[in-house]
Amino acid sequence: MKNIMITGGCGFIGSNFIRYLLTAPEFKQDMRIINVDKLTYAGNQESLDDVSGAFNGQYIFVHADICDRQSMETIFDKFEIDTVCHFAAESHVDRSIVEPDAFVQTNIMGTFNLLNLFRARKDRMFLFHHVSTDEVFGSLGKYGHFSETTPYNPSSPYSASKASSDHLVRAFIHTYAIPATISNCSNNYGPYQYPEKLIPLMILNAFEGKNLPVYGKGLNIRDWLYVKDHCRGIWEIMNRGIRGETYNIGGDCEKQNIDVVCMICDILDKMEPLKSDRPRRELIEFVDDKKLRPGHDFRYAIDFSKIQVELGWAPEESFETGLEKTIQWYLDHPKWVSLVQKKCGEWLRRHYKGEEPPRCCT
Ligand code: NAD
Ligand code: DAU
Repeated sequence: MKNIMITGGCGFIGSNFIRYLLTAPEFKQDMRIINVDKLTYAGNQESLDDVSGAFNGQYIFVHADICDRQSMETIFDKFEIDTVCHFAAESHVDRSIVEPDAFVQTNIMGTFNLLNLFRARKDRMFLFHHVSTDEVFGSLGKYGHFSETTPYNPSSPYSASKASSDHLVRAFIHTYAIPATISNCSNNYGPYQYPEKLIPLMILNAFEGKNLPVYGKGLNIRDWLYVKDHCRGIWEIMNRGIRGETYNIGGDCEKQNIDVVCMICDILDKMEPLKSDRPRRELIEFVDDKKLRPGHDFRYAIDFSKIQVELGWAPEESFETGLEKTIQWYLDHPKWVSLVQKKCGEWLRRHYKGEEPPRCCT
């Protein structure tokens, strides 16, 4: 690996991955990161302000759309790309219900475009790593876990578009023998997550004393993983994973949404009590998920024994410490928060009022 193209490096996980990589022992002096990002509402160059200057020459940003064949071709050749780690995607389930077109375009067509260009240069390529989600497997009932052999059964336009992209990667491995790996991960949380997702949205609303919109009765379950643990898992796969294989990554941390929201309320009450001294749990408002998220998946849980046994990976951060760190990070970064809240704040306002939101992804 010398010239690593990271797509979507200005998003939540991509920016954490770049920060992780630049200080990883395996990241040598002669290696470069080429971060290719379209800067949609979810992409922020400011998320890398601390590293972009410090690693001059080893970190390069290119503003481009992965769907644009010409630009991608130029990047592949100009920077002599030999490795791709592909994060770029439209990633929010609620938005995919309102504007699925952008999800089909970026998640399916964008991935296809990258795969085609990678295939044409296959002989000089080290690896194409595709970052995907556990949502491709659909929803679990009360019992069981997703393994690498669980049949695909996506529910939302988002998960269907990610499932399609996974199938394309597999087809390119099978048909054209490209060196590629896939990871399917559960819900991430941590610094730099756009505050439309459950944890950052609840942190910021609770901090400001606003209502906390919990879908349904808050009984849906997600398997939470601290973002740095995900980044370490991806880097392990890129270094030591077997070509052609898929690895599930998860947190061994199933929580009902209502419990996550209550934990956030309690931590914030200790850190920064509201002036009224009102307990933040009183801000919780149960909203109809049939309106905001029709087809809401009930439960995700990951069996990550394959990556654990084969590559020695396991989550390190506990949910309690990870959540406290995350809350502290949002309190310590008001500039970043106000910057990203300005982008598409109107989308969120209208979404939660049940009004037709403006088109934002495209
Ligand atoms: P994000 O929405 O925070 O970031 C996505 C990034 O992709 C943004 O920087 C955006 O500008 C960029 N992007 C979007 N369309 C683009 C295009 N056409 N060309 C170039 N760049 C484009 O997403 P995230 O939460 O960081 O997720 C990253 C990846 O990880 C996605 O593929 C997602 O499916 C996957 N994933 C996410 C989670 C999670 O919990 N967030 C869990 C498992 C897998
Ligand atoms: O499982 C991996 C997936 O996790 C990733 O592939 C997606 O990109 C990522 O967005 C995430 O998807 P979810 O839909 O699980 O995450 P989200 O934070 O949107 O919602 C988590 C749960 O919280 C879900 O059951 C819906 C609920 N929820 C969400 C929001 C935004 C609420 O109750 N209220 C809210 O306001």
